[in-house]
Amino acid sequence: ETPEFLAAFQARIDADEKIEPNDPMPAAYRKTLIRQIGQHAHSEIVGMLPEGNWITRAPTLRRKAALLAKVQDEGGHGLYLYSAAETLGVSRKQMTEELVSGRAKYSSIFNYPTQTWADIGAIGWLVDGAAIMNQVPLCRCSYGPYARAMIRVCKEESFHQRQGYEIMLKLAEGSPAQKEMAQDALNRWWWPSLMMFGPPDGASEHSDQSTRWKIKRFTNDELRQKFVDATVPQAQRLGLSLPDPALAWNEAEGRYDYGEIDWDEFWAVVKGHGPLNKARVAARKKAWEDGAWVREAALAHAKKRAARQSV
Ligand code: ACO
Repeated sequence: ETPEFLAAFQARIDADEKIEPNDPMPAAYRKTLIRQIGQHAHSEIVGMLPEGNWITRAPTLRRKAALLAKVQDEGGHGLYLYSAAETLGVSRKQMTEELVSGRAKYSSIFNYPTQTWADIGAIGWLVDGAAIMNQVPLCRCSYGPYARAMIRVCKEESFHQRQGYEIMLKLAEGSPAQKEMAQDALNRWWWPSLMMFGPPDGASEHSDQSTRWKIKRFTNDELRQKFVDATVPQAQRLGLSLPDPALAWNEAEGRYDYGEIDWDEFWAVVKGHGPLNKARVAARKKAWEDGAWVREAALAHAKKRAARQSV
């Protein structure tokens, strides 16, 4: 890759041109996108597990239908994202094998357990809320297929966030026991939600380069701050308290200050030592192995059809 090639590529990025699959691109740009889109796809797929856990136990038919639709949407997002990554020359099979062997990363948040129905509310409100904050800027990312996939994904995430908030509202306005359940879920999901945005800027190894390439439009800390600022008033509306004694409005800066995140916990979860990392990977591995016969049958059918057509 000559300096002229790299400069011409950067000039396209600086001019806000979209990069498309067949365009020439630096190997490192391709690699970064495969890494990020692949991890993002895995997050959607693994993200189906904590909530799937509650489909059979949703308290009403209406709640069950909404949760079922939401979990299905996440499966769809995963497929969109695997397709976007495939345009960069990696196969879905390769990506899945990395996931089921435990080598691939996916969002730390999905390694925590869903203990009560209120967790489904907290996940929709906080986890999908954080996902939207991170993903809306990705609609303007420099790689065309990723940016376009994000538009529909964000619309659906927005519905997910609202269904979660509405569950929380119902519980928060319910009996004392229901309100307590909502508060307990908020206590457990708040800090892991802040961790979703990634390490602090000083420890984010990819941020500078990804920002130059306009894959990232905001830093991890900038998005985390936006999320805190948007979420605090929503918690107040619910009448619930956020589990952070350091949380306070900073008049001079026009934002909320918040307490120190437990980065040791974050890195432990990212490195595979969270409460459910092993169970999550095992569940995906089982699904991949149980589905082998479907892939084989589809392939055999396709071959038979192709042979028939070529006669
Ligand atoms: N969980 C797991 N790993 C993480 C997390 C997290 N919350 N945050 C950062 N990491 C990893 C990175 O993947 C990177 O590891 P790698 O070098 O092995 O790939 C490492 O920690 C260092 O982090 P950064 O340098 O800050 O990485 P990056 O620039 O990729 O920023 C971010 C991380 C913000 C998550 C980015 O990749 C991104 O925006 N991804 C797309 C959105 C996404 O994946 N969302 C998933 C959750 S939302 C949902 O699915 C509902």
